[in-house]
Amino acid sequence: MPEIRKGLDGVFVDTTTISKVMPEINSLVYRGYPVQDLAEHCSFEEVAYLLWKGELPSAEELIAFNEVEKSKRVLSPATLEVIKNIPTHSHPMDVLRTVTSFIGNMDERIWDDSAEANLDKAITLMAQIPTAIAAFKRLKDKQEIIPPDTSKGFSENFFHMCFGEVPAKEVIKAFDVSLILYAEHSFNASTFTARVITSTTSDLYSAVTGAIGALKGPLHGGANEQVMYMLKEVGEASKGEEWMLKALSDKRKIMGFGHRVYKRGDSRVPTMKSYTQKMSKFTGQEKWLDISNALEETMKREKNIYPNLDFPAGPAYYMMGFEIEMFTPIFVMSRITGWSAHIMEQKAHNKLIRPLSEYNGMGERKVSTLSERVS
Ligand code: COA
Repeated sequence: MPEIRKGLDGVFVDTTTISKVMPEINSLVYRGYPVQDLAEHCSFEEVAYLLWKGELPSAEELIAFNEVEKSKRVLSPATLEVIKNIPTHSHPMDVLRTVTSFIGNMDERIWDDSAEANLDKAITLMAQIPTAIAAFKRLKDKQEIIPPDTSKGFSENFFHMCFGEVPAKEVIKAFDVSLILYAEHSFNASTFTARVITSTTSDLYSAVTGAIGALKGPLHGGANEQVMYMLKEVGEASKGEEWMLKALSDKRKIMGFGHRVYKRGDSRVPTMKSYTQKMSKFTGQEKWLDISNALEETMKREKNIYPNLDFPAGPAYYMMGFEIEMFTPIFVMSRITGWSAHIMEQKAHNKLIRPLSEYNGMGERKVSTLSERVS
């Protein structure tokens, strides 16, 4: 019997130069830079550039990069028509899965595998995914779609397209920090999905479409939405401990807790938590933080399991005014950068990803004819 590592737990499958997760020192670096420092000193656009190009941009390089991103924000009439034809009861993650695939259909260079064409496709998706999310939100809310505004930065423009206004700079900073923290995390399930698809020499749009499907699951990106449903279910901080004890005794998986790699805390949580605290002071909604603290303390005491990034990110987005079902799509807005960096890295050093499985089904047997089989 070969050694089987269920869920590829603890298995190294390749090397990467994009990011390093260091659970032993609770640290995460993108291209060598600690993510906390990037969150404090850089915009999301600078981090996208870093992930794709390997270096932070100079002022001139950033201006040029931003110009390209801004020039791509408008959806084609055909893409907008697709969004309008999707039933409004759909989850926006399913909308993104369809729209990403359709944007691929619209791109005549879909099979152009040059590094230049793939970077251009990645910037197109970075620019158009927020427009698609906001357009679907407005349709669902029976409001007019607001076109992108190229005079605004990436995060400001997203708020503008969703709500018709740009919030205070404190909110924009907290949002930008969340995007930076969500941007990249080595061989997580969705990134690995993108790399598997890429390894067959398929195209970037197919790889991102598959990655969106993987991210949607509540054990992965979908957890940020489940965290908020949980906080609402708990209702108030005084019920947090009792709720958690019951959930644990019912053997429930508590959303926003635990991690495959980090077992003593998620390196991204302290930064996000400090911005969630800022949001709760800024909006006067201290309740969500109080409930979160009660749950966190009980989980730590009972199971020694720590929160992951989704735990503080969920309530932060809620306090910013987003509907819960927009949380995982916002994660996509950010992780498109990490996914496409990995897709380009996989393409540059490709080997088909094709693991083995140990068969433990029925022994070999003879096929009977239909008339011989009795039910
Ligand atoms: N709630 C309750 N128990 C949890 C838990 C959680 N969120 N996360 C881990 N555990 C428990 C497991 O039940 C298991 O206990 P056992 O040994 O008694 O069976 C133990 O901790 C080890 O967990 P395991 O499932 O082996 O960890 P994993 O590496 O396979 O799973 C996750 C990692 C992320 C899938 C898991 O922690 C989880 O489901 N978390 C909730 C979803 C979530 O927040 N996802 C976002 C991740 S960034």
